[in-house]
Amino acid sequence: SDDYPFIQALPKVDLHLHIEGTLVPELRWKFAERNNLTLKSPRTGRTYASLEDLKSEIETFTFFEAYYDGFNVLLTKQDYSDLAMNYFERAAAMNVRYVEIFFDPQGHTNRGVSWETFMSGFKEAATKAEQELNVKSKWIMCILRDWSPESAMQHYEAALKYRDMIIGLGLDSDSYKFPPSLFENVWSRARADGFFKLTAHCDDGAKEDVHEHIREAVCSMGGSGADRIDHGINAADKPELVELIKQRGLGLTLCPCAYLRHQPAEPMYRKIALLYKAGVKCMIGSDDPAYMDDNWQVNNMLVVKAKCGFSNEDMTNIARNAVDMCWGPPELKKAIY
Ligand code: ADE
Ligand code: ZN
Repeated sequence: SDDYPFIQALPKVDLHLHIEGTLVPELRWKFAERNNLTLKSPRTGRTYASLEDLKSEIETFTFFEAYYDGFNVLLTKQDYSDLAMNYFERAAAMNVRYVEIFFDPQGHTNRGVSWETFMSGFKEAATKAEQELNVKSKWIMCILRDWSPESAMQHYEAALKYRDMIIGLGLDSDSYKFPPSLFENVWSRARADGFFKLTAHCDDGAKEDVHEHIREAVCSMGGSGADRIDHGINAADKPELVELIKQRGLGLTLCPCAYLRHQPAEPMYRKIALLYKAGVKCMIGSDDPAYMDDNWQVNNMLVVKAKCGFSNEDMTNIARNAVDMCWGPPELKKAIY
């Protein structure tokens, strides 16, 4: 696209990227081979004949089937380090300077992988990326909302040991009937302890309860609301939610390629344009590029520019919003813009 050189050159921050969502099939295949695992279809139990076979079958899965099945190949420190390094190399190539990366610890401890294994792998990659690629990073521990509040609290407590790397707490997985308020004991504990910022996916995967999820995240999560909202695109349906979000100065992390699974493209891009034009602070993130037709941050920004009719100046604003919305120190923000 004609816009590519401009978007590529913008200094970028990504605030919505799941490290497990960067597990491209090639890496999945490689990790399985070196861990002596036989990759099988989670639906039929059939062993994949080849990488091509794996790729074409993944295409037929729902997002969550494909995403969680990928976790099974992540076993060693090296796997976590290589997964993160694969992302950091792509980030550097896109001129992404800083990223706050989601990870789902429950999906790893659950299979017997220790916190030390994945955190030391992430740390190894993050240190190398900062030194060699000029990509800085922090981590956001997500709670799986379809798991128990007790498991969430145990993982919160385990995360405290890694607070040099972890900057925030998030909430992800399938959101229908799992509102942020189910975990209020964790959010209020985190507020009282004061180490982590708070955010929550207010997904477009949620159905009739989506606006209530946004309202909780804006107004009540942790006592008086979260520090950011992930997605939250459906706030565009309700003028009073748009006003509330603006009043509280909350930013939204919008990931257009994620919404194409749940809603038609044209009205969805109109919602993004409406939120931006209404003065809601928003940035464009990439969510799970390995499961979204290989759309990394630059492609997400290109599609938004084209479909929302945004100018170069609008895109510069959006890139600056990400810097503004991030939880890095002032020196870091100043060094980017
Ligand atoms: N976990 C990883 N990606 C997600 C998404 N897009 N929505 C909810 N949970 C997720
Ligand atoms: Zn997400």
